[in-house]
Amino acid sequence: MTNKNEVKLFLCLAAGALVTAVGAVMNNNAGRAANPQPTASATAETAPVAAAAEAIPVLVAEQGTGIVVTKASDWAEQYPNEFNSYAKNDENSEHHSYIEQHPYISTLYSGYGFAIQYESARGHTFVVEDVTSTGRPHKLANCFTCKTSDFTAKALNDGVSAYSMAFEDMEAQITDPFGCFHCHQNEPGKLYITHTYLANALADDLDSQNMQTLSCAQCHSEYYFDPETKATTLGYVGHANATPDGILNYYNNLLDADGNAFADWVDETTGVRKLKVQHPEFETVSAAGGIHPDMSCVTCHMGTATAEDGTTFTNHYWSSPLDNPDLLESSCNVCHGDLTTTVEAIQKETVARTDSIGEALAKANEDLAKAVADNSLSEDDLAKARDLARSAQWYWDFVFVENSNGVHNKTLTKDCLDKAEAYLGELNNLLGA
Ligand code: HEC
Ligand code: HEC
Ligand code: HEC
Ligand code: HEC
Repeated sequence: MTNKNEVKLFLCLAAGALVTAVGAVMNNNAGRAANPQPTASATAETAPVAAAAEAIPVLVAEQGTGIVVTKASDWAEQYPNEFNSYAKNDENSEHHSYIEQHPYISTLYSGYGFAIQYESARGHTFVVEDVTSTGRPHKLANCFTCKTSDFTAKALNDGVSAYSMAFEDMEAQITDPFGCFHCHQNEPGKLYITHTYLANALADDLDSQNMQTLSCAQCHSEYYFDPETKATTLGYVGHANATPDGILNYYNNLLDADGNAFADWVDETTGVRKLKVQHPEFETVSAAGGIHPDMSCVTCHMGTATAEDGTTFTNHYWSSPLDNPDLLESSCNVCHGDLTTTVEAIQKETVARTDSIGEALAKANEDLAKAVADNSLSEDDLAKARDLARSAQWYWDFVFVENSNGVHNKTLTKDCLDKAEAYLGELNNLLGA
């Protein structure tokens, strides 16, 4: 939202006139204010929207029960509306190569699989196909963490040992790519955290989170594989640490036997111990400055649909809110007027800035590689330069790989790009560039 008139219109709505329309999109996070406008707390107190909603309980699946997955297709008859909207994800099949779109990333990810192949996201039902067909090397079953219910059940039943199984052994056991099980276990309608590393990471803060958002955060969050157990793990403990600064700090303090900080890979041309950020949507949306703390991921990316017989149900076609005309019309655009234009403007600016920093960072990586080859830096300066390159890329990547291109949190996006630029400036000074 960019102008005062739109914000004013929003205040009128929250004060009562169209509360039902707004209420339909508000979720059940009783712990947060109903009003997304920070300066309007008086209105928030009088708005009945959040108070009316009942919080969905945060449930974590039990481990070691020997649970067997009920496949998505087995629910088709009992829950035709949810199943049919889930099946519609098959139609969302378009994707493109990030490497073709942003050629400089082959330098930034050099020495890692993402420099070989890196496709944009598409529908949930393609996840197994996409992970098995990438040109990136796979060794272990941990790559299936966010792809199939069969692996999720295995990790629940067998514990940490599941993650270090051979990739092919797990692949042979898949019956249910992206099943209902991830979010519902075998009880559609109830929400469960089946990916227990999320519960471990949020620890004491788990119960104060929104359960709908948690169902997405199981996969849409920044993770690493524990170097010893190979288990999927999130780089923070407690929600206050689920920030770009907090997670970098966590990795910097995770030392191997030789005292080296954790790295996803080491770039051999520069010796930089690099980190790969991965889809930190949860961390971005839920950080300070995130959009609509009063709504969940589900409000914007699923929404409510009406079947031909008039039954309303939760839409299980996971897509952009801009591809959901019902949602735009019935809720978003009531306040926003034209959300598409607002979103496109934010994204255009974010992508332009991310690309220009990314290109400059790739150039600095090349300069550093040359300095390493020529042996032209002192040991101290080389260590400093490597650290600056690691930090700059971390903050740049936090924006580059976040799938909303700045929309989920303008403040955090700006902050990350500012930091990337500052580290890059220091690096260029050291390199005499
Ligand atoms: C079990 C893991 C998992 C869970 C749970 C999950 N996602 Fe995803 N999601 C993925 C993966 C993996 C992709 C990328 C799919 C691909 O490109 O093959 C993705 C892609 C998406 C996309 C992009 C689709 C496109 O057209 O580009 C959206 C939107 C999305 N997810 C929303 C959600 C929402 C909302 C939730 C919670 C209700 C959620 N996801 C829960 C794994 C998950
Ligand atoms: C990525 C997470 C996710 C997956 C996968 C998923 N659901 Fe849901 N489902 C939800 C959410 C979120 C809700 C809304 C729950 C709420 O607000 O209480 C929901 C609600 C439901 C409900 C309650 C009625 C309704 O429509 O609100 C049913 C039934 C249901 N889902 C069935 C299914 C079936 C069947 C599948 C597999 C074909 C499936 N779900 C897959 C997240 C998921
Ligand atoms: C207030 C609404 C809102 C909330 C809440 C929200 N998003 Fe988004 N999200 C958007 C918009 C708007 C976009 C940009 C869509 C586009 O580019 O077409 C987006 C983009 C995305 C994309 C990329 C989709 C695509 O088609 O490329 C993913 C994935 C995603 N969001 C996941 C999430 C997850 C996970 C959460 C919760 C942690 C979340 N979102 C919370 C509005 C929201
Ligand atoms: C009750 C009015 C209201 C409704 C309904 C509403 N929004 Fe908003 N939205 C706002 C306000 C107010 C802001 C904050 C504007 C700002 O910070 O300048 C905002 C901000 C946003 C932003 C960030 C835009 C920016 O300029 O930073 C996005 C994206 C967004 N909303 C998406 C949605 C989506 C998607 C829906 C529908 C599911 C929705 N909104 C429904 C009032 C609303």
